[in-house]
Amino acid sequence: EKGTYDHFMLKEIDEQPIVMRKIIQQYQDKNGDIKLDKKIRKVMTKSDRIYIIAAGTSYHAGLVGKQLIENMSQVPVEVHIASEFSYNMPLLSENPLFIYISQSGETADSRSVLVQTKAMGYPSITITNVPGSTLSREADYTLPLHAGPEIAVASTKAYTAQIAVLTILAVDTAQAKGIELDFDPLKELAIVASAMESLIDQKEAFESLSKELFETTRHAFFIGRGIDYFVVQEAALKLKEISYIQAEGFAGGELKHGTIALIEQDVPVVALATQENVNLSIRGNVQEVIARGAKASIISMKGLERSTDDVVLPAVHALLTPLISVIPMQLLSYYAALHRDCDVDKPRNLAKSVTVE
Ligand code: F6R
Repeated sequence: EKGTYDHFMLKEIDEQPIVMRKIIQQYQDKNGDIKLDKKIRKVMTKSDRIYIIAAGTSYHAGLVGKQLIENMSQVPVEVHIASEFSYNMPLLSENPLFIYISQSGETADSRSVLVQTKAMGYPSITITNVPGSTLSREADYTLPLHAGPEIAVASTKAYTAQIAVLTILAVDTAQAKGIELDFDPLKELAIVASAMESLIDQKEAFESLSKELFETTRHAFFIGRGIDYFVVQEAALKLKEISYIQAEGFAGGELKHGTIALIEQDVPVVALATQENVNLSIRGNVQEVIARGAKASIISMKGLERSTDDVVLPAVHALLTPLISVIPMQLLSYYAALHRDCDVDKPRNLAKSVTVE
């Protein structure tokens, strides 16, 4: 079922605009409003603090989810790595709500937290691509991703689907709380779908950039600030797991506190600049690494480009940029693995779902 594709990963990257449209369709009622289980609305508005629990790429989607929920629905959110939360539970609020994000719905680390929080009597929602999976059955409510089966070990379309569903959830909660938003998530996601398409059409450009940056290197850095910091963490994970290049996703401002010591001649550094408030400061960080010999590349959002060398992403709503900025990262990783003769869909030491703790 790979069709004309050599790898599931590339097929799944390409499917992302379709998945966005599917989510819009599934979460829309006849009047064009958000369609969501009223009970989910209720638990979302009753909670004084939301705890997002996930692993790997789903954890990275959770980081973006925190930004979306806090910004739109004004509920504080904590995001936790499942395996850490399990053994080192923080002090909980009075009315916590747990959101489990899991593509497979079978991740043992996340399930072990769910078992604990259920025993404590706390409500739970699972956001998953597999309704009927363990985490879906055991949580009180399920929000499906509608991304279709994800076969490649490296998660791509599930990440963007998770962020899209979290966007809808955040806006629905805001509406339920009577918060006025100048933001129609279904319209904004449609803009995202078209923007994704235009990026996917530029594959060759990302293939050559990937060759230039990653064909022979042993190390790589991704830097960003604010919401971009969340996406660069995902970028580094993607590159590591399929190309075996040691990569780090770092907060731009934190580099000078130690990590910049690792920057040497020709080390690739990819910077994301999709947010106006950090556009100048992240570019300052890029200058610092260039001064130490790094091979730097800046991916910015239309309107924020400051040089003809920038890779420019089509403009989308400032809170939704991760849906767009992750696409070049996925493509750069895919081509890096391809050029380095790695097994793209089945990287060494990894399984699609991790059912042991
Ligand atoms: C990375 C990747 C893993 C998973 C993680 C959680 O590409 O696939 O990091 O994201 O194992 O899996 P799920 O989302 O199935 O709980």
